[in-house]
Amino acid sequence: MKQIQAIKGVKDVLPGESEAWQYIQKRARDIFHSFGYSEIVIPIIEFTELFSRSIGETTDIVEKEMYTFDDRDGRKITLRPEGTASVVRSYIEHNLRDLAPFSKLYYSGPMFRRERPQAGRYRQFYQIGAEVFGIGHYMMDAEILHMLTLLFDSLNISGVELQINSIGCPRCRPVFREALRTYFNDKRSELCDNCQRRFEINPLRILDCKSTHCHTLAEKAPKTTDHLCSDCLSHFNGVQESLDKAGVSFTSNPRLVRGLDYYTRTAFEFIGGSLGAQNAVAAGGRYDNLVEELGGPSTPAVGFSIGVERLLSLFNSGRVRRQYPPVFIVYLGDEAMQAAFSLLNRLHREGISSVMDYSGGSLRSQMRKADKLKSARVIIIGGDELEKGVVVLRDMEAKTQEEIPAAEIIARLKVTGKPGI
Ligand code: HAM
Repeated sequence: MKQIQAIKGVKDVLPGESEAWQYIQKRARDIFHSFGYSEIVIPIIEFTELFSRSIGETTDIVEKEMYTFDDRDGRKITLRPEGTASVVRSYIEHNLRDLAPFSKLYYSGPMFRRERPQAGRYRQFYQIGAEVFGIGHYMMDAEILHMLTLLFDSLNISGVELQINSIGCPRCRPVFREALRTYFNDKRSELCDNCQRRFEINPLRILDCKSTHCHTLAEKAPKTTDHLCSDCLSHFNGVQESLDKAGVSFTSNPRLVRGLDYYTRTAFEFIGGSLGAQNAVAAGGRYDNLVEELGGPSTPAVGFSIGVERLLSLFNSGRVRRQYPPVFIVYLGDEAMQAAFSLLNRLHREGISSVMDYSGGSLRSQMRKADKLKSARVIIIGGDELEKGVVVLRDMEAKTQEEIPAAEIIARLKVTGKPGI
């Protein structure tokens, strides 16, 4: 029979890798909590218009990467390609603004984009993200970047470079857009097909094109930072000074524009040197108009998302120990099986991680299984042990064993405190 395989571009996280995955999530949560964030759990499906209105009708994500289907009532539903739009929707829908002077929210979970799969690029990928609503000050941007830097440091991840830019606001961006059109006008025919379209609808995205020829053509293009209005310029200068004060190193990249339309002012990416073509491990920026654009009250906001698969590939997972069931119960014969089952139930009630294999077999074959599972301790119960009211406790590492009164085994396991016990 033909074997069914996973869909192209999606990934299983298997035991051995999932421990590092959990570790990273826990580290992120701990750090976010220490910065005053609370978790928000957002749906995986939303009405399509939420994404088209926030991410932008003419972005790659909305134009060609969303998984969209008609619901049974005819409304268009989309598997979320990112989390920010949903968090904003929820912030507005539940009037979170009335509950607190500002909101700091984080989320994690799978996102879906039908991109061309390659190393570090998946069609289902995980993000851990955070959003702050109600604080427009440039120091907030620096605080977020400081938080991310602390997370990378705490995971011992080096070689990640923070790049920042300001892409202005609706007041100064049209001026910059025109400057770009003027610059690219006589180079138009040389641009790739995509960028010829971008020239018309959103020339900023030409700066972000991966084609080497477009990249070369864009080398002398005007810089966003030369066209900022005075408010955006002082915000950008403030972010840079605050990053210096917080001890966060960064480089300013005037070509960084981002692929989502909702950004205003600060835009940033953390680039992992060893990640290859898909090198942004985290990215985000300020989006001061999105809450209002989606029907809420005017509220400044800033946030980021981390790509968990990319973060994981930068992380030395050798530091995280794989979890194995520390206690394996071996039994010999039917009567011993009943006693073993009772003991296993007691161990579980006590929260002691333990397993047994109900298919039985010889002492040798059960010991081999315990060895394969890397259990630290084996409890052996056979006919003799039952008669004497004892169990044999074997230390698999030291290769020693002793007889212990059955009534004392739980206390004994608790005292010795082997891994996971
Ligand atoms: P984004 O740049 O589209 O921004 O994605 C953020 C991160 O998600 C990327 O830097 C990357 O690590 C990861 N990522 C994106 N696409 C893929 C993919 N196909 N495969 C694997 N990883 C991927 C956003 O999503 C914004 N919502 C960030 C944000 C939050 N801005 C403000 N708040």
